[in-house]
Amino acid sequence: MKILYAASEAQPFAASGGLADVAGSLPKALAAEGCECSVIMPYYKNTIKPEHQKKIEKLTDFRIPVGWRSQFCGVHTAKLKGVRFYFIDNEYYFKRDFGLYGYYDDAERFAYFSRAVLETVQHTGDIPDIINSNDWQCALIPIYYNIYYRYQHDMRAIKNVFTIHNIQYQGHYGFDLLEDVLSIPRHISRLVEYDGDVNFMKGAIEVADKVTTVSPTYAEEILDPWFSHGLDRALASKKYKTCGFLNGIDTDMYNPATDPDIAANFSAGKKAGKKICKAELLKQAGLPGGDEPVIGIISRMVEHKGFDLIKNVFDDIVGTGYKVVVLGSGDPAYENFFNEAAERFPGKVSFTCGYIPDLAKKIYAGADMFLMPSKSEPCGLAQMISLRYGTVPIVRATGGLKDSIVDCGDLSGTGTGFTFLTYNAGDMLNSVKRAYGYYCDKKAWGGLVTRAMKADFSWKQSAKLYLGLYKELYNWGK
Ligand code: GLC
Repeated sequence: MKILYAASEAQPFAASGGLADVAGSLPKALAAEGCECSVIMPYYKNTIKPEHQKKIEKLTDFRIPVGWRSQFCGVHTAKLKGVRFYFIDNEYYFKRDFGLYGYYDDAERFAYFSRAVLETVQHTGDIPDIINSNDWQCALIPIYYNIYYRYQHDMRAIKNVFTIHNIQYQGHYGFDLLEDVLSIPRHISRLVEYDGDVNFMKGAIEVADKVTTVSPTYAEEILDPWFSHGLDRALASKKYKTCGFLNGIDTDMYNPATDPDIAANFSAGKKAGKKICKAELLKQAGLPGGDEPVIGIISRMVEHKGFDLIKNVFDDIVGTGYKVVVLGSGDPAYENFFNEAAERFPGKVSFTCGYIPDLAKKIYAGADMFLMPSKSEPCGLAQMISLRYGTVPIVRATGGLKDSIVDCGDLSGTGTGFTFLTYNAGDMLNSVKRAYGYYCDKKAWGGLVTRAMKADFSWKQSAKLYLGLYKELYNWGK
């Protein structure tokens, strides 16, 4: 069985969020389970580091239709840890200076990419059994497949899986793009029409053979308008083909026993190194001395990550006896808040604006707790990385956070963190205080850290679930 995993970003080549981690690690895990899996993504020439550039070589080029125009499509390739990567090259669309997305012509860029994926399959003759397309940027792939390729002899056996990593971003555009930019004939505009606009994700939900999302709880949640950003009506009639598989993490990349980026290595059986990591983190953050517990926060500073809750009770958190180390950027209101907090609480709070992978690793390894009070969280990877580094998550029980963290209070002896249910600052503070109490009991805390580190969030289990789904589709009609 051959799988083609289509994504707008993938580690280690280009990343802006969790999608890149998944696209970089799930295909590797699928390959380890014995199936042939390739990844296809845009060739962002300005973003890919030279050390990775040099592994990439040109395969072929041709022209493809974009609306009424014909555009160049180069195909480059590289092989990394058993996985073949294809890169779609068009400098006009993808050689840009300021990040991967957020340009005035994103709809056209990803319409081009989606068409290029299907054309590449056909031109190279490397025809997969399954195409797994991810998020709105690739949502036109199953749609184009249905319009242009499903009756072509060499392409007709392909099955389409569409995965939602975050339902907030849907590819929502005006109808004026329909024919000239998106190449969708007006007589079938109903495929992508939603509330009077064009909606890529709605179209993919409609036509894909299966729709998956990145945790079982999120698969349920998005049927509710509180979470769905308007798409619950599109999903309600497609429940029969929708499911959720929890993401895993790359346990080789995130391994405190071998990680070269942290001050000392440690493992569940030998935790001494974690103390050294904590001391080093506090030194670097300018918060020396003391045995107070340290809360780490690493996040994009956007509304749904729960920063309004943190802001509300921040003084109480520090007042409880915590030190807080924050890394992130985004909404200026939150950036200002943390800048100010670092000044108001010298020696207790540190804030670094931006995303610095090296510092992120040091926080995962050196903090005692990790705070992630998301309003919604399709899966979340940071809480899994924290667990692996023995940093106990405090999370709101939503989406993948609910599916990955067991509360210590449930007395089953399997707890790995602290959770709260309602989106309420007081409830969050209560969990933060419970964690403080637990921390003060050194024996209980040691046991909790060991359990956290032993929790298995490798891809092994989830890769099997994906494989099961792919096999089901593969066997259809055979
Ligand atoms: C998105 C989601 C996040 C998820 C990631 C990978 O970034 O917001 O929760 O972990 O995709 O699936």
